[in-house]
Amino acid sequence: MTGGVRIRPVRPADLPEITAIYSHAVLTGTASYEYDPPGLDEMTKRFETNAANGFPCIVAQVDGRVQGYAYASHFRTRPAYRFMVEDSIYISPDAQGQGIGTLLLGELLARCEALGFRQMIAVIGDAGVNLASARLHAAMGFAECGRIAGSGFKFGRWCDTLLMQRALNGGAQTLPEN
Ligand SMILES: CC(C)(COP(=O)(O)OP(=O)(O)OC[C@H]1O[C@@H](n2cnc3c(N)ncnc32)[C@H](O)[C@@H]1OP(=O)(O)O)[C@@H](O)C(=O)NCCC(=O)NCCS
Repeated sequence: MTGGVRIRPVRPADLPEITAIYSHAVLTGTASYEYDPPGLDEMTKRFETNAANGFPCIVAQVDGRVQGYAYASHFRTRPAYRFMVEDSIYISPDAQGQGIGTLLLGELLARCEALGFRQMIAVIGDAGVNLASARLHAAMGFAECGRIAGSGFKFGRWCDTLLMQRALNGGAQTLPEN
């Protein structure tokens, strides 16, 4: 189905569909460690802040509907982390497993490389359960770089967090220009 998928930057009109996709993920899964899904106003604020910080935010549109989204954001805000981004990616439940995540993450990687970042990290919640995320990231060149046991508590049980990283622009092989 990836032939009919259009990947493009997020527009304000996408926010209701993005909010619905994330809300479902928060309420039913452990990829996100939030308990209460943020509403449209809060999601709009988050995306506006992220865009104002210069990070790419993109959607996958199929037959006019937003079926997934991905964005980069600060991993941590201290200045020495400025060449590192964290990725987030969510696909609507009925569109998962059809290659949309692969397309979105590929485009996000390309956009982050073009912006000069050196590392992307995936913080994968509940790694024992969210196998699709680990597989997606591995297929896109990410390697495991850490595992934080018992780092989340959701739905009455402890969750391990898997960290996976991928170098961008040669990673630490050269010094940055600025
Ligand atoms: C994880 C997620 C983004 C992957 O996107 P997707 O469009 O479903 O993935 P794709 O169809 O592009 O497939 C990517 C890889 O995931 C694997 N995969 C897809 N769905 C899977 C499933 N239900 N179980 C196991 N593996 C799965 C595919 O086999 C593929 O791996 P491969 O290279 O070994 O074949 C999506 O499933 C999702 O939104 N899940 C819920 C939220 C989430 O976990 N987000 C990640 C936060 S870090």
